[in-house]
Amino acid sequence: GDMRDKNLLRQLFSEFEIDAVIHFAGLKSVGESVNNPIKYWEFNLGSTLCLMKIMQKFCCNCLVFSSSATIYDSSINKRIEENSKIKPINSYGNTKLAIETLIKDIFLSSKSLWKMANLRYFNPIGAHESGLIGEDPKGEPNNIFPLILRVASKKINKLEIFGNDWPTHDGTGIRDYIHVEDLAEGHIKALDFLFKNQSQIINLNLGTGLGTSVLELIRTFEKVTNIEIPFAYSPRRIGDSPSVVADNSLAKEILGWNPKKNIADMCNDGWKWQSYNPNGY
Ligand code: UD1
Repeated sequence: GDMRDKNLLRQLFSEFEIDAVIHFAGLKSVGESVNNPIKYWEFNLGSTLCLMKIMQKFCCNCLVFSSSATIYDSSINKRIEENSKIKPINSYGNTKLAIETLIKDIFLSSKSLWKMANLRYFNPIGAHESGLIGEDPKGEPNNIFPLILRVASKKINKLEIFGNDWPTHDGTGIRDYIHVEDLAEGHIKALDFLFKNQSQIINLNLGTGLGTSVLELIRTFEKVTNIEIPFAYSPRRIGDSPSVVADNSLAKEILGWNPKKNIADMCNDGWKWQSYNPNGY
């Protein structure tokens, strides 16, 4: 269903006894958001407003929201903490921050009622280890991992690496990739935490705390799958930064959460999904 459909949400909340909501829904293409900001504000904010109204009406006061590390100032040169500077630079990031602001306003209106967590994702990749659940991007993906999968399955000839002159050890961009299963577990732990504790609003980084360069990601993928990933260097992508890595100590401490899977697992499981489902779902 479409989360902006009030009647559908009302029907669902009437039919089921819903204690908490994990709000994943949203559009997430940075490029598209810059070209079509109205669509992003309409979908991302519109759906959240609709959800919050219904939750309030049905006294469902526990929310876990899929936010993004994209809301932080990307020029930060060290591990990003939850209280690091916030400064999104595109419409997608602006909508994520606006939703966090909306959620906070709702919390402040009834502090003793709401239990809310904003989970700020770093770079989720991979797929479920069964190979049955994975990412099936509509249209051309822009993110590195679905592109690597396309090169590996010979749908495109080569990967473009955006820049080999970044101030990093091998010149390519560093990100904090996190296996989707570790990410999923973070949500369950966040829900458990909210259920067990007093009303509050928390912001938590979900990343591994480890940085991996584009070249390291490609080399690990090649090693794990035995498939060569041809690539060529092209200029830096506008809006990119050299390194984005989480300080995940708060999530570890508060939730008792510990990401377990490494880059090799991410590559292995992502490739399993791709090879079992060459044309997506
Ligand atoms: C991007 C978005 C971010 C969003 C996240 C998840 C930008 C600037 N940021 O993060 O807001 O939350 O996706 O959807 O778009 N790379 C290449 N070649 C490619 C693609 C990527 O070299 O074809 C490099 C990038 O320069 C970067 C790394 O791979 O160093 C990761 O890129 P990507 O997967 O697009 O994620 P982010 O840019 O970190």
